[in-house]
Amino acid sequence: MKMILVIHGPNLDLLGKREPAIYGKVTLTEINRALRKAAKKHKVTLKIVQSNHEGEIVDLIGKSRNKFCGLLINPAAYTHTSVAIRDAISGSGILAVEVHLSNIHRREEFRRQSLISAVVSGTVMGFGAKSYTLGLSALLDLL
Ligand code: DQA
Repeated sequence: MKMILVIHGPNLDLLGKREPAIYGKVTLTEINRALRKAAKKHKVTLKIVQSNHEGEIVDLIGKSRNKFCGLLINPAAYTHTSVAIRDAISGSGILAVEVHLSNIHRREEFRRQSLISAVVSGTVMGFGAKSYTLGLSALLDLL
């Protein structure tokens, strides 16, 4: 069975309570439930990890090479700062899709650049929790 790695970056464990006007009221547990439901329909397995630590995310991606056929990632704040996560994705050769709940281009200047976008197949943003299921669907199409 195909295995997909899902990574939620820093502070996404607080979804539902964290700035709901920007990120919505849906919790991470609810997002993961929707992802698992969609994955089941397509007969793929998900490994879902949330981490607030850049090095941990780098390690996970580094070890993903022969384990996972795809990566769905919301790098959260690391989107705008992490050359290390970018390099881990490009070095892994894994097919990846980036997702964001908010449309980062409509927000503060510092959020408008993603260091990750250039090393993924595509990015889904601005649709709240739905960005994740749309992103998974796009990733499955590519696979
Ligand atoms: C985010 C956008 C980032 O700028 C922010 O740091 C996040 C969440 C999003 O999903 O909209 O934590 O990745």
